[in-house]
Amino acid sequence: MTDEFRLPPEGIERVPPAFASRLLMGGPVTLVTTSYRGRANVMPLAWHAPLSGNPPLIGISIEQSRHSVDMIQHAQEFALNFPTWPLLHHVQYLGAMSGERIDKFEATQLETFTAARISAPLIEGCAAWIECAVEQVVPIGDHVLFVGSPLAVQVDREAFGERWLVGAEEKRPLHFLGANQYAHLDRVMEARTPARGDAPEAFLAERLAEELELTREARERREEQLGQLREEIEAGKAVDLAALTLEALPDFARRVQILGPDASAGSDAP
Ligand SMILES: Cc1cc2nc3c(=O)[nH]c(=O)nc-3n(C[C@H](O)[C@H](O)[C@H](O)COP(=O)(O)O)c2cc1C
Repeated sequence: MTDEFRLPPEGIERVPPAFASRLLMGGPVTLVTTSYRGRANVMPLAWHAPLSGNPPLIGISIEQSRHSVDMIQHAQEFALNFPTWPLLHHVQYLGAMSGERIDKFEATQLETFTAARISAPLIEGCAAWIECAVEQVVPIGDHVLFVGSPLAVQVDREAFGERWLVGAEEKRPLHFLGANQYAHLDRVMEARTPARGDAPEAFLAERLAEELELTREARERREEQLGQLREEIEAGKAVDLAALTLEALPDFARRVQILGPDASAGSDAP
């Protein structure tokens, strides 16, 4: 690292600050389910984060005007359901309507089952479910952050072991990229201590720089040798050209007496 000003590498572009949240996306999308006074609601949510390990706390951020904000504030609990790709189109559709005006469970006919610890329904066809009690409500900008304490966590064993398994496609969670685009995890890679070959471009650039340095050194050495040669010739001495490469001797070879390798002994004699 140096303090010297360096331009970003080619192909890198500035984008508006609003893209910061898009860059943080890619975690599994969730369906937040809530229930209050016998009415249930569901909304897709991508803005979530682990907040504390001990005690375990997670955060979900919901735009102030959403019906789910009222539901969670009243119920003081919510569930996160992790849909798999067979639910892709439902996820998108559920994000386009408000539970204030429509019963989304009736509209989508999603199958549900009873949660272990809270009253919100859990959605079938998902890969995992987290039931939370609300610990804290923090207004943040135009959103409300609900800090949830997980009361019960259930997972589909084909989808999650101690971490996401990235097994059968229909068991992988969905990852929201923005707009109507989603992805899912492709393969598991195991990390180890980085080796030089792990960054081929950097390694190649380093090798090229080394090569250039060597060429420069070789050129300097040759010029030094040629200088000595010139001096010896001017002093009328016989010189040993065998020690030099022919390519290093563009015109001297024609002008000087060339001694063979075995004739070089005592060659410093005029
Ligand atoms: C994939 C996806 C992710 C979304 N993530 C969020 C989010 O993190 N926070 C949020 O406030 N809205 C998010 N939305 C928008 C809400 O789901 C949408 O406004 C929904 O209609 C709100 O429903 P409700 O009014 O019934 O609560 C998301 C929408 C989609 C499709």
